[in-house]
Amino acid sequence: MENKNILITGGAGFIGSNMVEKLIDSNNITVIDNLNNHVGDRFIKKFYNNKNFNFINSDLLSYDFNKLNDVDIIIHFSANSDVRYGSGDPEKDFKNNVMVTQDILEYMRKKDIKEILFASSSTVYGEAGIMPTPEDYGPYMPISSYGASKMANEGFITAYSHYYGIKGSIFRFANIVGKNSTHGVIYDFINKLMKNSEELEILGDGTQEKSYMHVSDCVNSMIFIHEKFKKTDIINLGNDNTTSVRKIADYVVKGMNLKDIKYNFTGGIDGRGWKGDVKKTYLAINKLKKLGWKSKYTSDQSVEVAVKETIEQLKN
Ligand SMILES: NC(=O)c1ccc[n+]([C@@H]2O[C@H](COP(=O)([O-])OP(=O)(O)OC[C@H]3O[C@@H](n4cnc5c(N)ncnc54)[C@H](O)[C@@H]3O)[C@@H](O)[C@H]2O)c1
Repeated sequence: MENKNILITGGAGFIGSNMVEKLIDSNNITVIDNLNNHVGDRFIKKFYNNKNFNFINSDLLSYDFNKLNDVDIIIHFSANSDVRYGSGDPEKDFKNNVMVTQDILEYMRKKDIKEILFASSSTVYGEAGIMPTPEDYGPYMPISSYGASKMANEGFITAYSHYYGIKGSIFRFANIVGKNSTHGVIYDFINKLMKNSEELEILGDGTQEKSYMHVSDCVNSMIFIHEKFKKTDIINLGNDNTTSVRKIADYVVKGMNLKDIKYNFTGGIDGRGWKGDVKKTYLAINKLKKLGWKSKYTSDQSVEVAVKETIEQLKN
């Protein structure tokens, strides 16, 4: 991707800010973000003086897209990304995820913008009966309003693609970890241990097991795959292996040079972290590999590297 005018929604957040960093030297980047993400503009401040960077601090729900000009490609990351709170406020997922995506697609239709990369999620599968779960697994039965919102987004993208000739690259992410993280299990554990270095509350029973992908592999593979796709398509992004929550706690404790930490498991419903938490996620990545992608890090390595990066960032 070179010499393009790229709109990155949610570009001040975790994955979005890594994408800005990857693309900014050879493209014009516009970020729209309302900084509703625990970290404000911490990760994008360094781009303010870059001639290729334009930041719009706005809620996408009320943004007038007519103010934008010359957009070639949209990379759509903005969302209510914290799956945990869905059962308390499902409407938040509907508004921030479904309605915003629909507005973006309407904007694309009116301005004849032909390419969108979309951050979907493994949560669309719900509690999949097949592991590793391939892209054509069905029926989708998400168990969170977040997963339901991503499923709706995917459907609108494929419909707009059929109606208006848009190319949509839909990426179903496993759990993404690494530099600039704003939430998630590693971020939570480090924050908790910084406040209390004797014990650690672990949501669920610790056996929850998911595939983790480092954010550098995530953004690099998104661009790589988008360039391979000839038309709208869906792909899982993850790793060939999984890591349990308990193992993540061990990596964090080791990374922080702590010892003899007492783990307090909340147990939860069926050992889940919260209502709507899928206990095991393991995406099949045959399609990703077949297209020629090879990740730098395995699931365990992604966690280990992310622990180091997150500790460093939270210390400063
Ligand atoms: N991190 C993961 O493991 C993971 C896994 C699967 C899918 N995803 C998806 O990837 C995308 C990026 O996730 P992330 O982890 O970087 O999350 P993040 O919360 O760090 O980033 C999302 C950004 O969107 C912004 N935003 C949210 N609602 C907005 C609105 N209405 N208007 C303007 N800005 C708004 C937030 O301020 C934030 O900066 C999300 O769509 C998320 O659902 C992430």
